[in-house]
Amino acid sequence: MISRLKGTDDILPPDSRRWRALFRAFYRLSELYGYDLALLPVIEATELFSRGVGEATEVVEKQMYTFEDRGGRSVTLRPELTAGMVRAFVEAGALGTMKLAAEGPMFRYEQPQKGRRRQFYQVDFEYLGEASPDADVEVIELSHRFLEEVGVEGITLKVNSIGDSADRLAYRLILQEFLRSREADLSPEARRRIDSNPLRVLDSKADVEAVADAPVPIDHLGEAARAHFGAVCAGLDAVGIPYEVEGRLVRGLDYYNRTVFELFSSSFEAAQSALGGGGRYDPLAGLIGSKKEVPAVGVALGCDRIVEAMPDPGGRRLDLFVAVVDADRRDEARRWLGQLRSAGLRVEWDPVPGRSLRGQFKSADRSGAGAVAIVGDEWSEGEVTVKRFGTGEGERLQIEEVASWLLGR
Ligand code: HAM
Repeated sequence: MISRLKGTDDILPPDSRRWRALFRAFYRLSELYGYDLALLPVIEATELFSRGVGEATEVVEKQMYTFEDRGGRSVTLRPELTAGMVRAFVEAGALGTMKLAAEGPMFRYEQPQKGRRRQFYQVDFEYLGEASPDADVEVIELSHRFLEEVGVEGITLKVNSIGDSADRLAYRLILQEFLRSREADLSPEARRRIDSNPLRVLDSKADVEAVADAPVPIDHLGEAARAHFGAVCAGLDAVGIPYEVEGRLVRGLDYYNRTVFELFSSSFEAAQSALGGGGRYDPLAGLIGSKKEVPAVGVALGCDRIVEAMPDPGGRRLDLFVAVVDADRRDEARRWLGQLRSAGLRVEWDPVPGRSLRGQFKSADRSGAGAVAIVGDEWSEGEVTVKRFGTGEGERLQIEEVASWLLGR
């Protein structure tokens, strides 16, 4: 028997009920905040990520599913959505701003563990073409609202600013000098990063102590980045979202400037614990070769981790099970099922004609329906017998009354 690949999951009921609730919340909030849906390819040119996300990042260095297709092109299964979103925006010749929402599977070759999968799912919101700090505030507020909406408790938000490219060039030298002075205390990975990607050493789990008193980007911001960060914090204060400024938060992808943030929950604590993260990425369009500048900010939330922190949505999966006494009435019953479903009721019946009433009751019980309706002799008088599970007697109702009886009206 062939089994699934390491680090991939079959998401089936009952777990998939939480996933459905999560995607419902995603679609609802996308509409409420005015984010249109984007469906993008799962497979992209490798260069989109090596240039967009950055050669020196862990994602590009170690985690990409990259292969040559039959035409000899190097292609990659997307490890994230943001580079593709910017590519699509620029390729469509879009003008002005565009707010896009996307969901789907991402692929990273990681050492699998709880909340760290090789195929994992993100919901993603990108505010493209907008430089205002209010866009940052909106994206952060939306992320927070999304987690609240799906029932995640104990949410914390960490924010930081890593400044503009020029600020970072200057800061990078300061940081490199500090890291060299501590080289003996650093992990081999961190030592290797001093030249290639020193910022990443700041949030390296293995180097917490060694960099505890390192200079941080937020103390080396230029005027514009400082004003921007001040406006983001003021906006968050105004909407009443609590946050911590975490100077060592730098994120693992190279396209960011200015605002970066991550969200956590006390209900999900693992080595890799962020439920979501994002930030402003004004340089990304340039990195992938766009002549047009695209200031933008966005977030991705990790569904696999969020469902771990979500309560069971509970409730019943079906409203009514229809049992048919006489198989000759199945076609009429079938039409009635259709009418009930059109009225918004979740209805099921036994797929096998002629099964005994006792057998149909057993199926009804297993189906998880809240009630059963029996199509018997009273059908010819326009009535059925209905009964809620867990209560005693059944009662006869006019067929047209059943929907409102179920809805408790
Ligand atoms: P990221 O921090 O790489 O950012 O991923 C965002 C979230 O995806 C993480 O916080 C985590 O919840 C989830 N995640 C990442 N890797 C895995 C994995 N292997 N298994 C399970 N969950 C995972 C981005 O991807 C950026 N594109 C976010 C962004 C959007 N920035 C601007 N716009």
